[in-house]
Amino acid sequence: MNGEDGQLPGGSTVRREAILRAAVSQGLLHPEEALVAAFIDMDGVAENVAALHREFSAIPQVLHAFAAKANCLVPVLAALKDLDMGCEVASEGELAQALAAGFAPARIVFDSPAKTVRELRQALSLGVAINADNFQELDRIAGLLEHSPSTSTIGLRLNPQVGVGGIEAMSTAGATSKFGIALNDEGNRSRLLDAYRRYPWLTSIHAHVGSQGCPLLLMTEGIARVVEFADEVNTVLGRDRITTIDIGGGLPVDFETDHPISAFGSYAQALRLEVPALFSGRYGVMTEFGRTIMAKFGFIAAHVEYTKEAGGRRIAITHAGAQVAMRTVFLPEVWPLRVVAHDGSGRIKGGDLVPQDVAGPCCFAGDLLAKNRLLPVLEPGDMVVLLDTGAYYFSTPFSYNSLLEPGVYGATVEADGTVRFTTLRLPQSIPELLERSGAGQLPVPAVLP
Ligand SMILES: Cc1ncc(COP(=O)(O)O)c(C=O)c1O
Repeated sequence: MNGEDGQLPGGSTVRREAILRAAVSQGLLHPEEALVAAFIDMDGVAENVAALHREFSAIPQVLHAFAAKANCLVPVLAALKDLDMGCEVASEGELAQALAAGFAPARIVFDSPAKTVRELRQALSLGVAINADNFQELDRIAGLLEHSPSTSTIGLRLNPQVGVGGIEAMSTAGATSKFGIALNDEGNRSRLLDAYRRYPWLTSIHAHVGSQGCPLLLMTEGIARVVEFADEVNTVLGRDRITTIDIGGGLPVDFETDHPISAFGSYAQALRLEVPALFSGRYGVMTEFGRTIMAKFGFIAAHVEYTKEAGGRRIAITHAGAQVAMRTVFLPEVWPLRVVAHDGSGRIKGGDLVPQDVAGPCCFAGDLLAKNRLLPVLEPGDMVVLLDTGAYYFSTPFSYNSLLEPGVYGATVEADGTVRFTTLRLPQSIPELLERSGAGQLPVPAVLP
């Protein structure tokens, strides 16, 4: 897709090339030291978050909580906090990362279908908001609150059961989804109503219809069902029983073109039409976008080590594979990525487009980033760039073959074109890798290379 991408309007291609060339000249991609590295265009992220705030500004009280699972690097979370976001977490690890990034506990919301007593106790004592996934968890929270009161906003996650989107594994509003309380299952509405009646501290309601692949109509329909239910609770139990609606994240990302700013405007408009109550001021609103905040602003660059032919197919062996692009390697039809060819200096390559496989370094045959993809001929010393990988890719690597986690760098581009980098994650070192693989447990300390 190199040829097509080079012709796309807008500044993204030019910016990426500038970032990559600066990274090469500043030594961040030295072929003997950094086989692969990842970059985040921090100016782009800031513009995108500004668009999010702007497009939802008609809601009188709204908190946009970034879903930490999409990119859990602490400096990234800290940058999003400085852009006036909150944070959604789904494990004690993510909670620790959000706190380390400096989020105030009241601006963190804890989702997860498997919260332990320890996790709940910690969230309640800090005042972190919690969305309970099921009735058992709710009763557990009630038990904990009997002993120690909390300032946490507490809600219940509903499954509005409006159906699945284009990727079943990412859809959470199917009839039998593992998340939340199934709104339409027999008896659940009255059990839910009872819960809100019984627990005066239960003041919020949550839904996340799904991620990538869910059409806007499905998402808005899911939110509409949840808001209708909140209205019903408030009518039956008194006007202000439920005060917060958390509409989750899930806005799909366009992985095919170079339009960097997410479709927040279309989503806000669709919600305004289908769920006007969200904009009425009756409820405080929370969102939990992840992929849409970060995906378009991250890319991975990896050196091409060798090239060869097999059965008439050209193959480029690169240093980016399943360890940084697990979803794409294991489910290539569901998560295809655009790949761009650059030379060793970071310049975009031109020339005739030739079908090639772009392979990673992992020891299994399916470790391919692209199959039979039309690209300028790749040579040893070139680089491949994987676009739109700012969310759910390099930030959560896969440690197969003990491949080192790449460094991640935030880039800002000044008006005169100067690119400045900040380190968001240092490249993993061999001593760190040995430590993680138990070397410190040997009776006699390991001899480091
Ligand atoms: C509860 C919840 N909120 C938010 C998100 C973020 O979704 P996305 O990255 O698609 O916006 C997820 C994703 O799994 C989720 O499960």
